[in-house]
Amino acid sequence: MTARRAATSSIGSAGAPARYRVGIIGCGGISNSHLRGYREMPAVEVVAGADVSEAVRQDRQSRTDELGIPMMYASTADMLEREQLDIVSICTWPIIRPEMTELACRAGVRAILAEKPMAVDLAGCDRMLAAAAHSGTLLVVGHQRRFRDRYVKAKELIDSGAIGQVLEITGYGSADLLSSATHTVDLIRFLLNDDEAEWVIGQIDTRRQERRNAPTGYQRWEETGMRYGHHVETGAFAMIQFRSGARATVASGILQRKGKGGWPMTVYGSKGFLEVGPDRPEEVQDALRARVKWKSEWIYPEARLNAGFKEEAEAIIAVLERGGEHPLSARAARHVHEILNGHFRVVASARAHRPATGFRWPPPGSNGGGRALNRPVWATSTGERTEEHDSPLPGGDHCLWEHSAAAPALIPGATRSGSGGRRGRLAGDA
Ligand SMILES: NC(=O)c1ccc[n+]([C@@H]2O[C@H](COP(=O)([O-])OP(=O)(O)OC[C@H]3O[C@@H](n4cnc5c(N)ncnc54)[C@H](O)[C@@H]3O)[C@@H](O)[C@H]2O)c1
Repeated sequence: MTARRAATSSIGSAGAPARYRVGIIGCGGISNSHLRGYREMPAVEVVAGADVSEAVRQDRQSRTDELGIPMMYASTADMLEREQLDIVSICTWPIIRPEMTELACRAGVRAILAEKPMAVDLAGCDRMLAAAAHSGTLLVVGHQRRFRDRYVKAKELIDSGAIGQVLEITGYGSADLLSSATHTVDLIRFLLNDDEAEWVIGQIDTRRQERRNAPTGYQRWEETGMRYGHHVETGAFAMIQFRSGARATVASGILQRKGKGGWPMTVYGSKGFLEVGPDRPEEVQDALRARVKWKSEWIYPEARLNAGFKEEAEAIIAVLERGGEHPLSARAARHVHEILNGHFRVVASARAHRPATGFRWPPPGSNGGGRALNRPVWATSTGERTEEHDSPLPGGDHCLWEHSAAAPALIPGATRSGSGGRRGRLAGDA
């Protein structure tokens, strides 16, 4: 186990001595939200950042506003060695999150706030969990929407029994499963007290998208079909059965109904239902409204429109100082990843058995949509490096769900084809 450092002292955002030295690995788009959150916390000071991009490094060091970082490194290892950090945010793309987590754990940081998705595959999640367990580091994954007031208040209503037993949840995943619907699945689990999923069935659409992506970092979604360094589908639909009996549906990308962006959700209970509004409600929309105990009038619990980044960081300090479990624990994030991976596996196995099931892949009119599912190995460029990784899409050996309960069972001992997707035979197949 790595030796823990005592908390160091420097000047925090409120001018008082800070108890925690913070560093940021990957200082692109989302690191702004981390910086703003940390800046509001007198207990911490952001002392350094690491980024492979010289332009990013220069920008951060030259700024005098809240988004400036006093010391920037080209090498994460150098930053970790020299800065004696207590907390690091890992704001790179997910493909290198396991590697960065291992580096930070080896350097003895006390807590890591890793952005979502936790990794691109379950093997990556497990590397992160193992590294954190070995060094005794608190590992948190940035599903910050759990801290948004409208979800907190919705959970309070549910827990009070106001809508009875939760039967069904309808959620929307915005852009793609791995990067965006990870929030949706995490929020559903939040409302269900971290209930575990029993099975998932799902479908994926890969028709060409006309979507535009913000030109942040190194993303070139339009040209590459990839986002944050991993392949993305253009639409996805999933049904998830939870052990409590609740069932959820998630629609994302081009399968999501228009006007359902910003992670809204509807929760149906045995005695009523509630609607959680989107991140940025329009004037006619409510942050949260409910019909409880089958009364005909709506109630409108007050809910602030907070970002949740400060709260997730504050909860890290609370756990470091008083113990307990962080609501955004890496264990919870791994289960979210199992569900998403289960979705991909369902699609991959259905595709392998197209003749038996009548399932057509790629769907008529698609642009050879099998591409993303069919390539076990893919390359991504993260800054100055190009690496190859197992594709998250067909799943690896770590999948929880080989198939849905509603689909024919795979025969045990299904054979593998290539280094990625497993090809099983369906019961009844010749
Ligand atoms: N929690 C949320 O709501 C939320 C919102 C947006 C993005 N994200 C997640 O945050 C992550 C980053 O997204 P982004 O929009 O900031 O991406 P980005 O491309 O803007 O930033 C990534 C940064 O990492 C740097 N980088 C690449 N390789 C590196 C390395 N080896 N060492 C150090 N730095 C390196 C890049 O130069 C870049 O500046 C993604 O996983 C994304 O899904 C989360």
